[in-house]
Amino acid sequence: MSNLSEKSLLRFTTTGSVDDGKSTLIGRLLYETNCIFEDQYAAIEKTSQKRGNEETDLALLLDGLSAEREQGITIDVAYRYFATEKRKFIIADTPGHEQYTRNMVTGASTADLAIILIDARNGVLTQSKRHGFLVSLLQIPHLVVAVNKMDLVDYAQDAYEEIVQTYTQFSEKLDIHDITFIPVSALKGDNIVSRSNHMPWYNGHTLLHILEHVHVSADKNLIDFRFPVQYVIRPHLDFRGFAGQIASGTVRIGEEVAVLPSGKMSQVKSIETFDGELTEAFAGQSIALTLSDEVDVSRGDMIVRTNNLPQVGNHFEAMLCWMDEREMSRSGYYLIKHTTQLIKAFITRVVYKIDVNTLHRDKAGTFALNEIGRVEIKTARPLLFDTYKQNHTTGSFILIDPETNHTVAAGMIRGVQRTVNDVAQKSGAEARKSPNVSWEKQSLTCSKWEQRNGHKAAVLWFTGLSGSGKSTIARKVMEKLFDQGCQVALLDGDNIRHGLCGDLGFSGKDRSENIRRVGEVAKLFYEQGNLVICTFISPFQKDRQFVKSLLPNDRFIEIYVKCDLSVCVRRDTKGLYKKAQDGQIPEFTGISSPYEEPQKSDITVETDIMSVDQSLESIISFLSEHNLLS
Ligand code: ADX
Repeated sequence: MSNLSEKSLLRFTTTGSVDDGKSTLIGRLLYETNCIFEDQYAAIEKTSQKRGNEETDLALLLDGLSAEREQGITIDVAYRYFATEKRKFIIADTPGHEQYTRNMVTGASTADLAIILIDARNGVLTQSKRHGFLVSLLQIPHLVVAVNKMDLVDYAQDAYEEIVQTYTQFSEKLDIHDITFIPVSALKGDNIVSRSNHMPWYNGHTLLHILEHVHVSADKNLIDFRFPVQYVIRPHLDFRGFAGQIASGTVRIGEEVAVLPSGKMSQVKSIETFDGELTEAFAGQSIALTLSDEVDVSRGDMIVRTNNLPQVGNHFEAMLCWMDEREMSRSGYYLIKHTTQLIKAFITRVVYKIDVNTLHRDKAGTFALNEIGRVEIKTARPLLFDTYKQNHTTGSFILIDPETNHTVAAGMIRGVQRTVNDVAQKSGAEARKSPNVSWEKQSLTCSKWEQRNGHKAAVLWFTGLSGSGKSTIARKVMEKLFDQGCQVALLDGDNIRHGLCGDLGFSGKDRSENIRRVGEVAKLFYEQGNLVICTFISPFQKDRQFVKSLLPNDRFIEIYVKCDLSVCVRRDTKGLYKKAQDGQIPEFTGISSPYEEPQKSDITVETDIMSVDQSLESIISFLSEHNLLS
């Protein structure tokens, strides 16, 4: 008997629309390659007869397995193994019809080959195109289009050729380099394992022949060393190892490495595994590294080679496949799981949605189930990543809905989000070029400041229209807190825009950047024990959410200074509404630019019906009731 481990391995996935015969195809492959036990076959034969089926329904084989799978609801993809004389195979079988995008993305990202099934009677459907688009997006090297149920079209060459022509035209627009078409009948066994007598006009190979002979290139990136640290192991004082799985590349003892994001450098001292020490390790291996120097490394850091760095940023563009029944929400946040990181993320922009039929880019505000397109994402902390093209591991991520815990989307990173403006500003994390900065830990922690001050630190975020009274009330609150001996700081929109944000205008992008900078500054003040009072129109929910994400949950207090627009216009304290109405100020909030009201502010003061003192009173009582002032 040949040694299985010497054979090469092919990972493939199968997809099709409802009833295209995916299960029958897999069943047929398993059966004809003798990977089914006698008793299993006997059982399904009996069931088929009972149901009055003429043929033994090989799909039943998988039904039995899927019933088992359904009990473990978290398993989206079932892996099936089989082998022939020539090769070992892993099929990522993706059950469920509704969730095909999800399943395909989960099962296919490591596949060498994808089989797309098309029902010969139905021709090329939208879903067949969507699958092809996913193959291209996921960069699966080989695609086999199996035109199935040829028996039901009398093995007619015309029917097959028409599908080949339509699909070829479509796939030419995609990034697919190797595509093979085969006419098959999974039910009757035509062209699956043995050649069909019914289709003498077909000169190509059988499906199994293709699976056995397709060239599998090394699918791993062995160039860019990326080691996301999963755990720090410290069994005793003399040993400090960093454990994880090598995402890509190789590493050798003695090599110069850098720890990101701190940028500290060192050399690899040893490479440990369960089976002993190694001198070199490769992508996919789980190892523990030790370094020659005592450097600070924690979970979520990444160890890389000093002359081959990933990108660093908290704002990037990605292709996103939406996989949840609930459509994408633009107001809240999601959790992004990227290598060993799990942090808050915001979808800041939907750039376009793909119409999979025409491959046109359509305008969209949100994605529904199975939709695919390009988005911009902002994360609460910078991530260390590569583009998906360069690195499938550090270039991909999933999004999780924090309320339902569902995996709602899979994404492939296209690159850092960068506009002319961003580059010109050269500021903000997304344009941060050098990873060689480290975070100076403060000896005076926030809680030490709080103890000394006798009150909590927090950010009091005033949001509302221009002229709603934010600054007036905020000033009163500040004076009151000052009189009570509190340590306070004020960041005010107009003032900040004179200096720190003097380079920003009022476009959506600039306003986001304004709030991002202010949020970061507020956080620094917060960490030094302040009650930080911030007054910014901050018209966009996602920007306010972003600031909130920088702080502990109960330390960001959103105060909505609510005032009817008509009252603000009447007050027109700065004379700006008049100018805006005359068209002299573009993108003026409330007039020519939107204001998104807070959905769940902590405090709402209605300045068109409450006096300044009443507003002050309600804010101070909230702070006391929530024990922030003691
Ligand atoms: S924000 O939208 O980015 O949060 P911010 O609070 O910093 O705005 O600044 C708002 C102040 O800028 C207003 O109080 C007003 O004095 C001035 N301003 C000038 N142009 C505009 C505009 N187009 N929209 C809103 N405010 C403007």
